[in-house]
Amino acid sequence: MPATDPPWWQSAVIYQVYPRSFQDTDSDGVGDLLGIRRRLPHLVELGVDALWLSPVFPSPMADFGYDVADYTGIDPLFGSMADFDALVGAAHAAGLKVILDLVPNHTSDQHAWFRQSRSSRSDPKRDWYIWRDPSPDGGPPNNWLSDFGGKAWEFDAATGQYYYHAFLAAQPDLNWRNPEVRAAIYDAMRFWLRRGVDGFRVDVIWHLIKDDQFRDNPANPAFRPGDPPHHAVMPLYTTDRPEVHAVIEEMRRVVDEFPERVLIGEIYLPLERLVAYYGRDLGGVHLPFNFALLQTAWSARVVAKLIDGYEAALPHGGWPNWVLGNHDRVRVASRVGPGQARVAAMLLLTLRGTPTVYYGDEIGMQQVPIPPERVRDPFERNVPGKKLGRDGCRTPMQWDTSPYAGFSDVEPWLPLGDDHRHNNVENQRADQTSIYQLHRRLIELRCTRPALRLGRYRPIAASGDLLLFVRERERERLLVALNLGDEPLEVSLTNGRLAGTLLLSTAGDRVAEKVTGSLDLRGDEGAIVELSDEARLPSQTPLPR
Ligand code: GLC
Repeated sequence: MPATDPPWWQSAVIYQVYPRSFQDTDSDGVGDLLGIRRRLPHLVELGVDALWLSPVFPSPMADFGYDVADYTGIDPLFGSMADFDALVGAAHAAGLKVILDLVPNHTSDQHAWFRQSRSSRSDPKRDWYIWRDPSPDGGPPNNWLSDFGGKAWEFDAATGQYYYHAFLAAQPDLNWRNPEVRAAIYDAMRFWLRRGVDGFRVDVIWHLIKDDQFRDNPANPAFRPGDPPHHAVMPLYTTDRPEVHAVIEEMRRVVDEFPERVLIGEIYLPLERLVAYYGRDLGGVHLPFNFALLQTAWSARVVAKLIDGYEAALPHGGWPNWVLGNHDRVRVASRVGPGQARVAAMLLLTLRGTPTVYYGDEIGMQQVPIPPERVRDPFERNVPGKKLGRDGCRTPMQWDTSPYAGFSDVEPWLPLGDDHRHNNVENQRADQTSIYQLHRRLIELRCTRPALRLGRYRPIAASGDLLLFVRERERERLLVALNLGDEPLEVSLTNGRLAGTLLLSTAGDRVAEKVTGSLDLRGDEGAIVELSDEARLPSQTPLPR
């Protein structure tokens, strides 16, 4: 029986664009859809398969688009619906899928639904949001906290009740227990699916359902001064409620009305709880975002443990995925350092499962320090001084050596990294040893080597700074050897035999070397070796899945 081809999103590399910061074409210092369209050749050259756009819908931009005022429009800041259609058309013509960011947990307080809801207690849309009477002392109904600082309840004096907001007060949470709300969001999804989008990344999907008894969250005994203030309580009754899975199954059925679409969920949970989001019989999201690499200590043993733990926790048939950066977290090149950023790229692009690359990480962009007067992130503004700000990972893409880095011809909305004159796409394209060229080669290798794209993962060793694993499919066996430290290492296979050919090194100046017996890795170097028939893997290696 011929094997059916795996769905596109299993062999794809996803590329996240933060639209405000990719390319400005109308000289307002903010990126736009036309800019993204003009830069598609960059994505094609890099070799990625899908473009995920952070929100581009009409929004007051209190949380830069994660406060949606209309689910079926395009904010004029980014362009028009015609610009959107043109972008999707051009992306598809270039062989790229387009994934939109769906933000169903909350709307903007300027959304017509919320305006109606707050207009009176008897408005038909009142129950579309989460309204509660004050507690007997007149205070908020319970102790729930906002992720962006302060209480999660905002008092509405006109109607004498509080509404719940997991994030800003300008982002009231929708009531997902109300079937009309669900139907309205599903219609918005169909609107975009009919327009040809290839799927959604669903914002804070594990937040959708809250406790129906509104119980207080328990105090967090691990809370330390300096932690984000909302960590003072554990989000037991506000997130990851059991009923959320039935809702996600419904959402998935909407996506399944259209062929070959993907549903991705943003979920920050420990791996064992994360994997529940694949759903019963894999009827949940196709890809619950796996953020383990965003939060890990950078040690071979810790990373190996989390890979093995993830592989072991996956449900049968659940397809893995990996993320190294996004618009909410410190840039990888700053987390692990510029040398290790290359090793991290090799890890991301050789692990089993769909990788997501955050724009700018392909050129090793650093977290940019933001002077206090230029801070834009509402999280940072609400909770200043705790270094929680997300602006530093959202700065304009560094394209070339021109004054505004080719991003704009005016001062951009956020400062450019001060390394943009040398660290940019133009320079790195010309330099065969750059991290950009490394990304290109890694993606190309992934494309041409089924073992990397679809093969099994077999852990080999993790000791000291060395992380060693094999990806294999049929007779193709690729050894990935990563040096997570800055001292040279000698790699050999205890109880086995190393033999093969070096396919790619993060160092950029080593190619096609024969490898027999051992492989010398420099500090901060990772390498991929194609094992030959004489190579023998240690027999105690656990059986692959
Ligand atoms: C998600 C987004 C983040 C946003 C928040 C509220 O975590 O990634 O940027 O602020 O949800 O929508």
